[in-house]
Amino acid sequence: MTFVNYQYIKRYRMELNMRRWRRPAIELPIGYRLVAWDSSLVSAHAEVKHASFRDEIDAMVFPCLGEYDGCHRLMSEIETKEGFMPEATWLAEYVGAGPSKAEYCGTIQAVRIQPTRASIQNIGVTPFHRGRGIGSALILAALLGLQHLAVPIVRLEVTAENEGAIRLYRRLGFREVRTIYKTVELAYSGPSG
Ligand SMILES: CC(C)(COP(=O)(O)OP(=O)(O)OC[C@H]1O[C@@H](n2cnc3c(N)ncnc32)[C@H](O)[C@@H]1OP(=O)(O)O)[C@@H](O)C(=O)NCCC(=O)NCCS
Repeated sequence: MTFVNYQYIKRYRMELNMRRWRRPAIELPIGYRLVAWDSSLVSAHAEVKHASFRDEIDAMVFPCLGEYDGCHRLMSEIETKEGFMPEATWLAEYVGAGPSKAEYCGTIQAVRIQPTRASIQNIGVTPFHRGRGIGSALILAALLGLQHLAVPIVRLEVTAENEGAIRLYRRLGFREVRTIYKTVELAYSGPSG
């Protein structure tokens, strides 16, 4: 017999008002570079997303993030959306170990959700490369692209438990504007018979 339980996950909607945003310099540690969007990079974005999210709370909130196929489907859907914004979609690549060992290690993308708002989504840095400024650099690169397109407000959503990510977003100027609850279905099988 299969039981279904529902859990309510607290999330914050955060926004940044670009009219007040003073762009800081993008600093990347030695050995890293940012790679602009190209449609040949769907699989690379999917791989980095999977490696970044599979062991995190958001893989429970959004089960597709816990599987490579789910990440690939998600990325393919995003790139065909009318509001997809290539100018704010970036990969981070580690090239410090030499060209033959180059490795993608971070991902971000953006979608226009309203005439005055864009949403940055699924920001992920693979565990080994965290805490070096890669996440900050990806967000700043996306924000620069959005500023270039004159987007007035940038939005994101984050799970309340994800304190490190919230700290990072606050430091970059985002503020909570709303609390939302996402219903997550937890199915498990009970003993048969
Ligand atoms: C959230 C996430 C993207 C942050 O990426 P990151 O590359 O670690 O981010 P940064 O390195 O820019 O910032 C993280 C911390 O490292 C610190 N840091 C930045 N540059 C640094 C450097 N050169 N040396 C040491 N520390 C540094 C930052 O100050 C920050 O510290 P804080 O936690 O006290 O705020 C990453 O942890 C991740 O992928 N998590 C799993 C997926 C996820 O939850 N994504 C968010 C969904 S909303």
